[in-house]
Amino acid sequence: MNSDPYGVIVLAAGKGTRMRSQHPKVLHTLLEKPILGYVLDGIHDIHTRWIVVGHGHEMLRAAFPEHASSMVLQAEQLGTGHAVQVVWPQVVASAVEYVVVVNGDMPLLRRAHLEAAVAACRQRQADLGVVTVRMKDPTGYGRVLRDAAGEMVAVVEEKDLARLGVDPAIEEVNAGVYVLRVAGVGPLLFRLDTANAQAEYYLPQVIALAQQAGLRVIAVEAQNPEDFLGVNTPAQLVEVEESLRARVVRHWLEAGVVVRMPAVVRIGPDVELEPGIEICGPAEIYGKSWLGSGTRVDAHVFLRDCHLYGAQVRSFSHLEGAVVGPGCVVGPFARLRPGTVLEAEARVGNFVEVKKAHLGAKVKANHLSYIGDAEIGEDTNIGAGTITCNYDGVRKHPTRIGARAFIGSNTALVAPVAVGDGAVVGAGSVVTKDVPAGMLCVARARQVVLPWRRKEKDHAGDA
Ligand code: UD1
Ligand code: CA
Repeated sequence: MNSDPYGVIVLAAGKGTRMRSQHPKVLHTLLEKPILGYVLDGIHDIHTRWIVVGHGHEMLRAAFPEHASSMVLQAEQLGTGHAVQVVWPQVVASAVEYVVVVNGDMPLLRRAHLEAAVAACRQRQADLGVVTVRMKDPTGYGRVLRDAAGEMVAVVEEKDLARLGVDPAIEEVNAGVYVLRVAGVGPLLFRLDTANAQAEYYLPQVIALAQQAGLRVIAVEAQNPEDFLGVNTPAQLVEVEESLRARVVRHWLEAGVVVRMPAVVRIGPDVELEPGIEICGPAEIYGKSWLGSGTRVDAHVFLRDCHLYGAQVRSFSHLEGAVVGPGCVVGPFARLRPGTVLEAEARVGNFVEVKKAHLGAKVKANHLSYIGDAEIGEDTNIGAGTITCNYDGVRKHPTRIGARAFIGSNTALVAPVAVGDGAVVGAGSVVTKDVPAGMLCVARARQVVLPWRRKEKDHAGDA
């Protein structure tokens, strides 16, 4: 027997025609995370799972390598019913009693919804459970038809409403979450037909088939229609994203984070924040960022995959893949690129770009510099306009600067090059050779001052 309480099938093969984009629909992002990522997060510990992929399946495998082994190819996308047919032999072989089918385009769906639907089916001994919700605007969803006794008898797709004379005002819709008892419903899946407006195999047709076959079919009514919003169009994408954004910001406000101008703060779902942080909007914080207590993020800051241990990030700074220690001050107008590590109390000021560089404690690079592929010891001062010339056109080379060194303004450090502890480099130097510890390096044209008298202008003919 299978140890999972139920299996899960995620339908993610569709092209997403209504998005009108080249990318597979489920790779479109909300707060920088793909739609499918949300759905997969919710079921990561259910090992009996199949993800039906088709359109752009190589891209999906690349985007979710940890799920690639669960992906099953639906080479031709002939409809949601066909997608389930494709994996069905594997479902039968897995020996689960129930399998939950979910559309892959519902990023707000939560695990609790699946659990509730399965529990309802077990309790009522149903062969088929269909989650339904009441949408104020049901446009685009399959409408639920009930008989005089209130039993759900069918779901009618938007495009079939007119043909079948179904009232478009019906608010109860098919949410796109189904629980199938494998033994009961399996055979019916192969009796679906394409006699509908889109000439596709519709999974919801199994509802009518199951009723006709005398199986027990139940509608599992869910209370929060918002959680089941499907993303089909760019307008729906941003609508669902906004709803998620507000939910995430509200969560952090309640967790002790001061979020000023909350309506214009965007925080990704996988970001972690400690209490005692202040964020002022507009601001964007994405990816696997972690912000520790005491961190302050000013307006117009962008953070992705950063770790800030109680630092100040001033306005208009852009940080990606950076680790910033306690007491550091970054910006305004700073750019930290991946591989940047700032130890405690380091300062990176305006128009300074740092990439793949380790700045020791209390290092100051306050103005107009580029620091790439570099190692800088503590307490060193990097003067305005210092550039590490790390690229020779073919390869990148490292720059090493020791502790308590002083690099004068407008210095070019031509890597590979090293400046020792306590060394001083005069302003305007082009440093091509190593500077040993404690030495003074001046590598610039010597200033020449010569006697010279400016010729007086001849004003004689001016009258
Ligand atoms: C579907 C339901 C509709 C329901 C709505 C809820 C059908 C026919 N209709 O409509 O009743 O109200 O979801 O959001 O199922 N897919 C495949 N292979 C295919 C076709 C689709 O894997 O051949 C995947 C898509 O990638 C998508 C999911 O199935 O993730 C649903 O397909 P979509 O076209 O979005 O269905 P809807 O028209 O929204
Ligand atoms: Ca959909």
